[in-house]
Amino acid sequence: MSGILNTRIAGLTLEHPVLNASGILGSDPEHIDILASHGFSAIVTKTFTLNPREGYNPPILVELRSGGFLNAIGLANPGIQGIKPLVDRAKLLGKPIIISISGNSIEEFTKIAEVAEDSGASAVELNLSCPHVKGLGLELGSDPFTVFLVAREVSSILKIPVIVKLGLSDRIIESAGKALEAGARALTLINTIRALAIDIYSFKPILSNIYGGLSGPPIKPIALRVVYDVYREHRAEIIGCGGISNWTDAAEFILAGARAIQVGSAFLKNRKVVYEILEGIKKWMNVLGYSSVESLVGRSHV
Ligand SMILES: Cc1cc2nc3c(=O)[nH]c(=O)nc-3n(C[C@H](O)[C@H](O)[C@H](O)COP(=O)(O)O)c2cc1C
Repeated sequence: MSGILNTRIAGLTLEHPVLNASGILGSDPEHIDILASHGFSAIVTKTFTLNPREGYNPPILVELRSGGFLNAIGLANPGIQGIKPLVDRAKLLGKPIIISISGNSIEEFTKIAEVAEDSGASAVELNLSCPHVKGLGLELGSDPFTVFLVAREVSSILKIPVIVKLGLSDRIIESAGKALEAGARALTLINTIRALAIDIYSFKPILSNIYGGLSGPPIKPIALRVVYDVYREHRAEIIGCGGISNWTDAAEFILAGARAIQVGSAFLKNRKVVYEILEGIKKWMNVLGYSSVESLVGRSHV
């Protein structure tokens, strides 16, 4: 594999920098086929917990007039027995697969991570950032010491790379630093942002869970700022995520410091988005006279 879009992230060599974001398909083997056939260079699964979770009652997803989505799925997933079939399918297709995991305790994180590694996963992504599930998620990721403990325990038992996914918090630069100190090879920045939508006729919050996670174009400038700040502080390997909908968004994230990007909401609306991003990035690099996308990473920092 050699080409101008080749990217290395967390020790994985990828054909190009565009991955899917966790939760955008990625819980059934058939989803892996869909994601692979739409051009993603590696597959990120839905977040897995130890035991199956039903998730919340509908409504769980609202499309907003601002162009974004608000979701509170409640981390519905089939539990650890669902991991191996996904890995097997990705292997069959020759795609690296990153298993997203979450837990109620450090022990749960380590158990699921071991199952992922034993199943043959390429890497794990620790979801320390779900903004709408109590006890699992943002409560963990916004405390730098907890981030350190979880990332250290998981990193110490795995041979495959550990990626830590963080959400927006006042201490995100510190949490990022702690994740790296604990052994994380890369950071995914950022998850959805806790938000609300109200039905003006029923007077009630639209989502059954009341709060949801905001994604899509409204969060792009915030995610970009976080990537910029974390790269400036830590010069880390970063997977940028949040509102990336086209090649100019992707280019901004690369210049801010992202070695790879994840696309979530935009794929729900446009199934050609990966190819459009790759075409645009290639043309942009040609115009600028660059022959390696990696040489553009972090170039907005003077
Ligand atoms: C329907 C939906 C489900 C999601 N599920 C997960 C999940 O299981 N785990 C996770 O880490 N992030 C999850 N996310 C967050 C995305 O991975 C991503 O961080 C976020 O949507 C921002 O990217 P985007 O603006 O490109 O969608 C979900 C997002 C959406 C819209």
